[in-house]
Amino acid sequence: MRRMTDARALRDAFGCFATGITIVTSMDEAGAPVGFTANSFTSVSLDPPLLLVCPGKNASSLPAILRAGVFGVNVLAADQRPIAERFAMRGVDRFANGEWVEAESGVLLLEGACSNFACTTVNEVDAGDHIVLIGRIESFRAACERKPLMYVQGQYA
Ligand SMILES: Cc1cc2nc3c(=O)[nH]c(=O)nc-3n(C[C@H](O)[C@H](O)[C@H](O)COP(=O)(O)O)c2cc1C
Repeated sequence: MRRMTDARALRDAFGCFATGITIVTSMDEAGAPVGFTANSFTSVSLDPPLLLVCPGKNASSLPAILRAGVFGVNVLAADQRPIAERFAMRGVDRFANGEWVEAESGVLLLEGACSNFACTTVNEVDAGDHIVLIGRIESFRAACERKPLMYVQGQYA
């Protein structure tokens, strides 16, 4: 077994767990959209309907997400890899590609995704270098016939 100081090895160990890929969206004080690529999405509860995602404390969009109190989660389809890549890039207009529609709360949801969730933040749990952001699902839609984009061992699959 490795010692817990080995961060690279721990990242690799986490990476053995295959996930989907999401884009988490919200808006800043001026109403401009913010968002980032996240694979830390987990379904939490059906009743009440809850999900979670873990933004890093250094993520540029975190202050806006916490301030807005609402966020969107878009589960990407297999053909949306360029969107995943764009939302992990700095210095680009992340929303330039893809077709975005507004949920009632104003968060942007991506057309062509496998599923979309519009959430209200109900809990922010401090967790090391990340925040566990728990959202109550206010509305959602799913296109379960679409194949999801997958991510495992540091690569899209
Ligand atoms: C496949 C993949 C999964 C990611 N998952 C997360 C995640 O769950 N949480 C997170 O904060 N950042 C995650 N990131 C990194 C963010 O997308 C982004 O690069 C980081 O939050 C920095 O955002 P910023 O440039 O807005 O500060 C992921 C990146 C990739 C490529």
